[in-house]
Amino acid sequence: MIDYVPPKPVPQPRKVSLIKRWWHSRHDMLKPIPERSFNMKMGHIRMPRGDIYPVCETSLVRRILVEQWERFPKNRFLHQVLKPLLGDGIVISSGELWKMQRRMVDQAFEVARLQTVFPLMVDAVDALEARLDRLAGTGPVAFDVEMTHVAADIIFRTIFTVPLEQEDAARVLGAFKRYQEAAANAWMFGIAGLPSFINPHRIHTWRWGREIRGLLMPLAKARFAAAGRGEDSGQRDILDALIKAKDPVSGHVFTLEELVDQIATLFLAGHETTSAALSWTGFIAAQCPHVQERLRDEADEVFGERRPVHADIKRLKFTRDVFRETLRLYPSFGFIAREAAHTEHMRDKVVKAGASLAVAPWLIHRHRTYWDRPDVFDPDRFQSKEGKASLRCAYLPFSLGPRVCLGAAFAMQEATLIVASLFRRYRLVPDPGFETHPVGRLTIRPDKGIRLRIERR
Ligand code: HEM
Repeated sequence: MIDYVPPKPVPQPRKVSLIKRWWHSRHDMLKPIPERSFNMKMGHIRMPRGDIYPVCETSLVRRILVEQWERFPKNRFLHQVLKPLLGDGIVISSGELWKMQRRMVDQAFEVARLQTVFPLMVDAVDALEARLDRLAGTGPVAFDVEMTHVAADIIFRTIFTVPLEQEDAARVLGAFKRYQEAAANAWMFGIAGLPSFINPHRIHTWRWGREIRGLLMPLAKARFAAAGRGEDSGQRDILDALIKAKDPVSGHVFTLEELVDQIATLFLAGHETTSAALSWTGFIAAQCPHVQERLRDEADEVFGERRPVHADIKRLKFTRDVFRETLRLYPSFGFIAREAAHTEHMRDKVVKAGASLAVAPWLIHRHRTYWDRPDVFDPDRFQSKEGKASLRCAYLPFSLGPRVCLGAAFAMQEATLIVASLFRRYRLVPDPGFETHPVGRLTIRPDKGIRLRIERR
């Protein structure tokens, strides 16, 4: 079988400065990266408002994310651009505030136990299939839009119990898309040295951030007020658990604004990442009929015509490996941004306090020394001894350490269910002439979306 290499950015020649290369690549973080970076241990990019150090060496990655994680708080530029939407939500907070939030959000996440939320994920997949049945056989489909809708629907049902209907989905997801574009641009302008008060994209982050919070607020407010009056909503969802969460150390309970911070955070973190990876999975499978056949055979064998049940998930081993391999090639967070709270010595470099560090799954997952045939899509690689070793030392799509993704198991479960259900029912066919490439903004996404044809099996 011929190795399949899915789309990757074509590195630009190094004749011009990094800032110019980035500018010409339309604010894409991936395109300006030269080929030699996939071999490096640690880089150094000089920037007007503080240097940036991309990090690939595994011992340094562990030092930053696991062993000395408190010395490396969240990056302030990222905090600035996400604040209009997320307030001080758990993804961007640091220090004692983060510790308290994590204790409280962990408590709330208890209700999102994998077995408990499974039926709700199946309901969202049923709704996806109803939409795809209407689109099947009609011509090219915006597959990434469908993946965004189903991932958003799942997290919406988990937080609020109710489904995300078509009309609301279009409004909320449209606003999220515009926010993500504005935030990515504002972030890059911030790093490049533009003072925040003349950064044009920051205005848009406030505008779209306010719009999204305005959509989420009424849902939270009614339930928050009812809880304040001592009424029980009867819903056992994340919103209910967040309202009831009490920090065991300080006794703090969330105010309404803080509640919306956490809901917006979970909604953003819970759909944007999963949908990007699912979109790539569909694109790759459409190019690889032999992969599709194996996915279909596995789904047929594990649950066939009946409704999937929770115990099926651990039997869908190939499906899980296809998704894991997609996350290796397209980690939703290509760069995990931190900053040095103190001056640090790393390899031959002195990293000054305040400098930015970018732990780089995008480079580590394709690193020439950690992986065999790094750019090739090979879901069977995790079964070999070498593949397992690479997986242990150089695979971190969900990050590592105390700030590891809170929804990693949730995401793996929903993705495995969605992929298996898709291929049990449909065949994905490439749309002739359609090309797409990864771009690095807040997450790694396909620059032209994913267009493909869907046929009923
Ligand atoms: C394929 C899907 C996903 C990927 C690749 C992913 C990846 C990540 C990564 C890399 C981080 C660390 C970010 C950093 O430290 O800067 C993170 C944090 C987080 N993720 Fe995910 N995530 C996914 C799905 C989800 C889902 C479904 C949820 C919620 C249900 C979620 C909730 C969170 C939260 C709350 C944090 C912040 C944790 C903390 O700082 O304490 N994620 N995720």
